[in-house]
Amino acid sequence: MTHVVGDWGFLNRLNKIIQTKSGHCVMLAIDHGYFGNIPGQLKQFSCLEPLYEYADALMLTRGMLRSCVPTNIDKPIILRVSAGASMLKELSNEEINVTINEALRLNVSALTCSIFVGGEYEKQSLLNLSKLVNWGQEYGIPTLAVTAVGRDMARDARYLGMASRMAAELGATMVKTYYCEDFEQVTGIAPVPVVIAGGQKIPEKDALQMSRNAIDKGAVGVDMGRNIFQSDSPIGMIQAVRAIVHENVTVEEAFEIYKNGPKGLL
Ligand code: R5P
Repeated sequence: MTHVVGDWGFLNRLNKIIQTKSGHCVMLAIDHGYFGNIPGQLKQFSCLEPLYEYADALMLTRGMLRSCVPTNIDKPIILRVSAGASMLKELSNEEINVTINEALRLNVSALTCSIFVGGEYEKQSLLNLSKLVNWGQEYGIPTLAVTAVGRDMARDARYLGMASRMAAELGATMVKTYYCEDFEQVTGIAPVPVVIAGGQKIPEKDALQMSRNAIDKGAVGVDMGRNIFQSDSPIGMIQAVRAIVHENVTVEEAFEIYKNGPKGLL
């Protein structure tokens, strides 16, 4: 059973992310650039703005928040506060790079970092998460743990379930992990809300099917990036994902929503 512990400020922040009506959420992941992964669409970051109204929360870094997101935005921010590694080196070698004062100044609704279970810097990443959990308890800020998968790790229910459970045991409020076969074993073993990452761009129908399966198998939502903003209809795609997550539509119904969406972002 999912049980979230927290006081008013903590729960108020969390309720802005996980919608109380459906109990579900659509997060838009646009934090890729922090380790040097800059897909074409992220080069003109401000082009993503039309997508914001369809997301329940934005997951991004402080640099892009400060320089590219309007201050009058009415969306909770999930701030990526880990850094220190690029795609060119060992990705697990991250530390926390944002202070709690800065996060509070930015009025964020949640903090996020990756854990690298089985990775070279596993311990460091687990202690990074613990630091966020401690801050979160003190200042009332939920934590989203991302289970990063190293090159040598299997993306299966055994590994992702273990990593998700570890994140929950360390105190993460929510877990972001990858979808896999037998996903109910992942959500079943992690007693906190679980969202799936989108991963690399796949055909729209497949991404919608993956979202449908994840919800059916106990996820509370998705934290999706490339499968939305790299679609030929990013707005249609986020609307379609939203319909699955919040309105429980079928994949066929969602695919129609995507097909009817406007082409491009502008
Ligand atoms: C992973 O550690 C980061 O949060 C990614 O930048 C993000 O999850 C990517 O989202 P997607 O895989 O849906 O593009």
